[in-house]
Amino acid sequence: MATQINIIDAKNYVDQEVKIGVWLTDKRSSGKIAFLQLRDGTAFFQGVVVKSNVSEDTFAMAKHLRQESSFWITGVIHEDSRSHFGYEIEVSDIELVGESEDYPITPKDHGIEFLLDNRHIWLRSRRPYAIMQIRNEMIQATYRFFGQEGFLKFDPPILTGSAPEGTTELFHIEYFDTDAYLSQSGQLYEEAGALAFDKVFSFGPTFRAEKSKTRRHLTEFWMIEPEMAFMHQEESLKIQERYIAYLVQSVLDHCDYALKLLDRDPEVLKKYTKTPYPRISYDEAVKMLQEADFDVKWGDDFGSPEETYISDQFEQPVFILNYPKAIKPFYMKPHPTRDDVYICADLLAPEGYGEIIGGSERETDYDQLKASIENAGLDVNAYEWYLDLRKYGSVPHSGFGLGLERAITWICHLDHLREAIPFPRMINRIQP
Ligand code: 4AD
Ligand code: MG
Repeated sequence: MATQINIIDAKNYVDQEVKIGVWLTDKRSSGKIAFLQLRDGTAFFQGVVVKSNVSEDTFAMAKHLRQESSFWITGVIHEDSRSHFGYEIEVSDIELVGESEDYPITPKDHGIEFLLDNRHIWLRSRRPYAIMQIRNEMIQATYRFFGQEGFLKFDPPILTGSAPEGTTELFHIEYFDTDAYLSQSGQLYEEAGALAFDKVFSFGPTFRAEKSKTRRHLTEFWMIEPEMAFMHQEESLKIQERYIAYLVQSVLDHCDYALKLLDRDPEVLKKYTKTPYPRISYDEAVKMLQEADFDVKWGDDFGSPEETYISDQFEQPVFILNYPKAIKPFYMKPHPTRDDVYICADLLAPEGYGEIIGGSERETDYDQLKASIENAGLDVNAYEWYLDLRKYGSVPHSGFGLGLERAITWICHLDHLREAIPFPRMINRIQP
């Protein structure tokens, strides 16, 4: 009996007979031969059915199979240098499993809204396949990287009573007879984790009621938030660039086929595996923008066009250091010699993709922090526990947050974040 395999392992079975569970993505046939375009979930490949080699029933079935019907094929694997995947199967038998109705996503082009309405099945197509392979690799690489660096995976709550990144973008929920919010960052909890376990990281869903419709904002996204005790910002920046370089290298090492499907040139990505990354100050960034005739003044936050312009000036990701206090959250540590900026940095991705990381050194002084919480208009009572961290052996500590979908969008060279997550949530989309 033929060995049952996934096509991704084809290289181990060249010239052998195998059996694979597949779906049909497209087909073409003549009187004597049928070419079946197949997908088994692990790759896309071709099945060739030659009339003179199979039973009459099998050939008739091959000719009449409908798009997305599922079936077992038995056949012999051959190398096929013309395809992206590199192998095809010479089919000897077909066993129908599930017939398909008229499939809405045909091989022609469809509009993005139509595809998003059909996301539950659009995921079967080549492009989502490639992006999800790369997303998966970046998740695996994240665990490897922080594991190697001695970090403990530390899970913050999703239901929270505080607002680390400001109160305007909170999703409010009723929590029995009180109020709660969906987490907009696990950071404050990661700080508790760092003071308990030295180096920790979280990886989880994050919620922001973003009212703006942009290609860089989801209302639900996944964030990686490392936090390190006994660590100043300088060392944190080094970890950030090592981490990003490691993510890119891991995709280069393991996602060759996915990059080909996306037509993403590995030579471009290779440039991002070299560290250190360039750094400029917020002050320099403002000057750069003004020289390029952007209407910005010192103290303004940068929008997408500004970030895009700055990142376009560099061949690598670039750090922007020390933003004005007024546009950053309360928990950051003020600069030692300037009272108008924090010790913080955003990392902008190249090719115009904008901010992928936000991070800072944290305020360590109890009184200062309490004053900052009050100045931010927040209820100090909800932050008692957070303030406690400054009462019992407060230490310098730093951390950062990487938006996974932002990083995927850049590495895959996508136009919009919505393709970087299985089921995107945006201001006008909660289905499917
Ligand atoms: O810059 P942000 O708001 O920083 C924080 O939340 C800090 N607490 C992180 C920390 O220091 N632990 O968000 C961090 C990153 C951004 O750089 C961006 O990549 C991503 O999260 N991000 C979003 N991604 C998708 N959709 C949104 N609406 C996002 N908002 C932020
Ligand atoms: Mg930010």
